Amino acid sequence: RAVLLSEYAPYPFVIDGVQLTFRLHPTATRVVSAIRFRPNPAAAPSRQLRLDGEGLTLIRAAINGQEVTPKVDASGLVCEVPEGEFLWEAEVEISPETNTALEGLYMSKGMYCTQCEAEGFRKITYYPDRPDVMATFRVRIEGDKPVMLSNGNPVEFGEGFAEWDDPWPKPAYLFALVAGDLVAHSDTFTTKSGLPVALNIYVRPGDEAKCDYAMDALKRSMKWDEEAYGREYDLDVFNIVAVDDFNMGAMENKGLNIFNSKYVLASPETATDRDYELIEGIIAHEYFHNWTGNRITCRDWFQLCLKEGLTVFRDQEFSGDQRSHAVKRIDDVLMLRARQFREDNGPLSHPVRPSSYIEINNFYTATVYEKGAEVIGMLKRLVGDDGYRKALDLYFERHDGDAATIEDWLKVFEDATGRDLAQFKRWYEQSGTPRLTVKEDHADGTYTLTFRQHTPPTPGQPDKAPQVIPIAVGLLNPNGDEVVPNTMLEMTEAEQSFTFEGLSARPVPSILRGFSAPVILNREMSTEERAFLLAHDTDPFNKWEAGRALAKDVLARMVTEDAAPGPDYLDALERVARDDALDPAFRALALGLPSDDDMAQTLADGGVTPDPLKIYGAREALMQRVAEHLNDVLSRLYDEMDVPGPYTPDARAAGRRALRQTALTVLSRVDGGKRAQRQFETADNMTEQLGALACLVRLGRGEEALASFYRQWRHDHLVIDKWFALQAGQAAPADAAAVTKRLTEHPDFDWKNPNRFRSAIGALGMNHAGFHDPSGASYELIADWLIRLDPLNPQTTARMTTLFETWHRYDADRQALMREALERIANTEGLSRDTGEMVGRILNG
Ligand code: ARG
Ligand code: ZN
Repeated sequence: RAVLLSEYAPYPFVIDGVQLTFRLHPTATRVVSAIRFRPNPAAAPSRQLRLDGEGLTLIRAAINGQEVTPKVDASGLVCEVPEGEFLWEAEVEISPETNTALEGLYMSKGMYCTQCEAEGFRKITYYPDRPDVMATFRVRIEGDKPVMLSNGNPVEFGEGFAEWDDPWPKPAYLFALVAGDLVAHSDTFTTKSGLPVALNIYVRPGDEAKCDYAMDALKRSMKWDEEAYGREYDLDVFNIVAVDDFNMGAMENKGLNIFNSKYVLASPETATDRDYELIEGIIAHEYFHNWTGNRITCRDWFQLCLKEGLTVFRDQEFSGDQRSHAVKRIDDVLMLRARQFREDNGPLSHPVRPSSYIEINNFYTATVYEKGAEVIGMLKRLVGDDGYRKALDLYFERHDGDAATIEDWLKVFEDATGRDLAQFKRWYEQSGTPRLTVKEDHADGTYTLTFRQHTPPTPGQPDKAPQVIPIAVGLLNPNGDEVVPNTMLEMTEAEQSFTFEGLSARPVPSILRGFSAPVILNREMSTEERAFLLAHDTDPFNKWEAGRALAKDVLARMVTEDAAPGPDYLDALERVARDDALDPAFRALALGLPSDDDMAQTLADGGVTPDPLKIYGAREALMQRVAEHLNDVLSRLYDEMDVPGPYTPDARAAGRRALRQTALTVLSRVDGGKRAQRQFETADNMTEQLGALACLVRLGRGEEALASFYRQWRHDHLVIDKWFALQAGQAAPADAAAVTKRLTEHPDFDWKNPNRFRSAIGALGMNHAGFHDPSGASYELIADWLIRLDPLNPQTTARMTTLFETWHRYDADRQALMREALERIANTEGLSRDTGEMVGRILNG
């Protein structure tokens, strides 16, 4: 049954305090709760107490000390309650060890841990498990684990027990408990107001040495939030725990963040530059949630983007400040297009704020997170930096302690800046990616840009109204000088013109600078014009974008017309490679080719049915041509970009390694793998070791290197995840299913561990040509595994069904095979609600 936004009603009770006692036992943990309720003055009065609860064994319940016998069903219980305030007490039994869904209280390698967002707390005890019910929690943990943690501040510790107190009212989804044989990597931070905070990162013994970078990122995040947003931390301790079995990236539980260990643990030998970057970004993200998510939370789960869009936006700003804004923006847009545009242009398209769901876990999507962040970026562009800061100050002041809505959020911008945001709100309500087309006109010194916007129909939304689109534009004159600097055009109508005066020569426009709105810009451009912008644009994003568009044009013509790549493209690429004034990280991005999935999406958008094998072939052929044409300059770059001395994860060193790897990937096509082999043997860091290994595997010469890599790293599961992912992800199209099948037979394929499952099955699904092998073998293999995993772990299964979300794009034969796989999943007996909703939407959307 679907939950609807329009049906929101406040909970009839408020909570004055929660006390929980956990008596830990792997298969029979007792949870004793005492909750003070009183009638909610803002809700219709009720004498019925309804509490959520799933998979709980109720031992006893009492109201005001009197035993009661509530009516219990599969989703909770109902109980008659007296008028006025009352004390609810209950004792339940749960079994963490057999909890394979990794939601609620579960065990990971002997350690107890929790994941409650969105609705996991109901698997711990009976409770109004909804974000608008906020309460203070006092927690006592009884057990024999040396480290026993919960939210808030530590109160008392003794032999076999620990007590925690969280003074900040919070919804149940922010509850957390951890108990295990853990060691802390500790540090301190003093807030701007002088409050000392004890910082701890808890890991399994042996991993202590891999916490330095996460700790450093945490301290930088705390400082940054004080400076950029005036937000200080508000407890005596901030704890982070790394867990090996985790369905997602990390979780912002109040004062006790729980992380997938791959986003905490790093050493130069075991983590890549990309890993370091993700650790920094995710540590920041979870920390920033303390204000945007925890202090101000969501009224209901439809408002998820209120905390996620804003927190992603904040972590993107942070990473840009710490590294390079230009490079970060390009990375973010690459991700947005790869995941959110893909989602928004298929059957799973939904608004940033959805209006109905069956299983809320299915809405932790690229649209809610990444498009949600883009919407905030647009808002900031429209009101300016000062307006944004004023609005945010007002948001924190007005809503601290609230469970808020998107309406509240927009209202603070209206009140702080005087702007009417009624039309802007459509960004939260309309799904689909707007298409923007442009016409140009130049006469008598006046240059006119005429834009048209159109958003194609999406599931449940056949017609769209025009949106507010901030379009950043600059104009260059034909000799490459910028004649009109960055200007923000504000489009509000379906069709709208903007004029620029005093331009004697027809300018070359640079449109949608910085990717100022999450739209698809369709503008016919000649190769010369693109090459001109690649050479002269002062906006780094559009400079990169011009190069990317050139590469896509070339690849598209190779696929559809069997055309050979022309010299203009290769020359433009060579100029970028030779331009030593450009940041190496930027050059690496500008020299990289679009992914196969990106090409498939682009072709499909232009009305061409993508043939995955042809795309793969075109990419290979283009790489070969680039390797031949740019051999000299790339060889030079490969040598010059070597970073001397011990590994450091900073952006400058990482950028040089990225450019060096780009050169290596191309050069491997023509040097027989000689450089990659040498690099593989001598690398002293994972970035270079794995980069070399990928080249060797791609060349079909990875056999020995793979074996030695395995021998070297078999004790380190995070590195072995990479070993799995590389093989499934880089396998040649016709071998990918068989290679992955063999990997699933490997003794280290622990399919119940989400990271390991994703590193084999997920990596195959992202190997575009391999996934779409015409035999259908990969579709079948993935469907088999999803059917197997679903009864154990519905969340991870449901998420991975999105591998099939693009089935509409492809030819009839592939469509039939994908439908068959999806229907086989859909028809599985006892399929979870999570997976059921996803395959239903994918098939019928
Ligand atoms: N709030 C967490 C974060 O953004 C993610 C929680 C994901 N939960 C889920 N049910 N998928 O960091
Ligand atoms: Zn988040």
